[in-house]
Amino acid sequence: MRILAFESSCDETAAAVLERGADGVITVLSDIVASQVAIHAKFGGVVPEIASRAHSEAITGITYEALEKAGCTMDDIDAVAVTNNPGLIGALLVAVNFAKSLAYAYRKPLIPVNHIKGHIAANYICHPELKAPFIGFVASGGHTSIVRVEDARTHVLIGGTRDDAMGESFDKVARVMGMPYPGGAALDKLAYEGKDPIRFPSAAVRDDTLDFSFSGIKTAVLNLINRERQMGGELRRADIAAGFVQAAVSSVITKLGMTFDRNPDMHALVLAGGVAANSHLREALVKFTAKRGLKLYMPELRYCGDNAAMIGAAAFFEYDAGNFADVSLNAYAYSV
Ligand code: KG4
Ligand code: ZN
Repeated sequence: MRILAFESSCDETAAAVLERGADGVITVLSDIVASQVAIHAKFGGVVPEIASRAHSEAITGITYEALEKAGCTMDDIDAVAVTNNPGLIGALLVAVNFAKSLAYAYRKPLIPVNHIKGHIAANYICHPELKAPFIGFVASGGHTSIVRVEDARTHVLIGGTRDDAMGESFDKVARVMGMPYPGGAALDKLAYEGKDPIRFPSAAVRDDTLDFSFSGIKTAVLNLINRERQMGGELRRADIAAGFVQAAVSSVITKLGMTFDRNPDMHALVLAGGVAANSHLREALVKFTAKRGLKLYMPELRYCGDNAAMIGAAAFFEYDAGNFADVSLNAYAYSV
């Protein structure tokens, strides 16, 4: 069975063709991502209106490319899937309307997919043996969520950010240090050069919840940088990067520790989202799970950031459950 999947919730226009065999194993036949990073870089962040226009320009071309790479025509496709929440509303609408038109014209079932479930589903591609229940930790430019995944379709949000997303805080800190948008990956690298990491406050909210607040740690970094600039001293860029990454990662470990203490029925952790590419976070989670005797699943680096293969992977479960939409399908900025 084959699914053609689309993703346009932020600044990547993506199309992919996936096949699920009789054994349930998911194979990615094609996975095309048209990134708008270069377009938005000069503005230091994603400009929603520009993103929507760029999606509109790219989506037809990448659809042909995805089908061609997979060696398929629309006749070989059994269903069309699309991210319809959450994300930038104008950006989401581009792929939603495109997918609706394709599904209607070719009489294929249309499957709406939640973007966060998509990020988690990237792990079903990389780890065919993965089965719920497990705890998911999703961190990207727009989300930071701790999720109880009861089964592939039932995700219960048990912790999140009260302000900035984890990736957003990486990008903002990187930006004030003069790194091009999105600076998360560059900050990740620079942190390895820090010999004397500067201490920053934790992003783990000091209360009984599983929540984060990344704005405090970000502000502490910005204040330090401004102070050092005013005093004319040399910016300890690598030590700032190392301290920031250390504070961010240890906050995640703190809240995940509380998560597993309170959910003793859970024995596996699944990492997902753009920030899942962070090498310091990956290393820390390897140690954390080993110490607690938990299984750890992390996506390959190419499936951490936004892509349509992960949307297709989540869509197989929606297909099995008969969760189909008609041409009235809408897009939502928030998670539904
Ligand atoms: O999942 P994604 O592609 O898009 C959203 O759904 O937001 O995530 C993009 C985010 C950006 O904030 C980017 O800086 C961050 O993921 N990111 C990283 C790394 N690679 C990407 N953050 C920290 N370390 C990395 N290596
Ligand atoms: Zn994402």
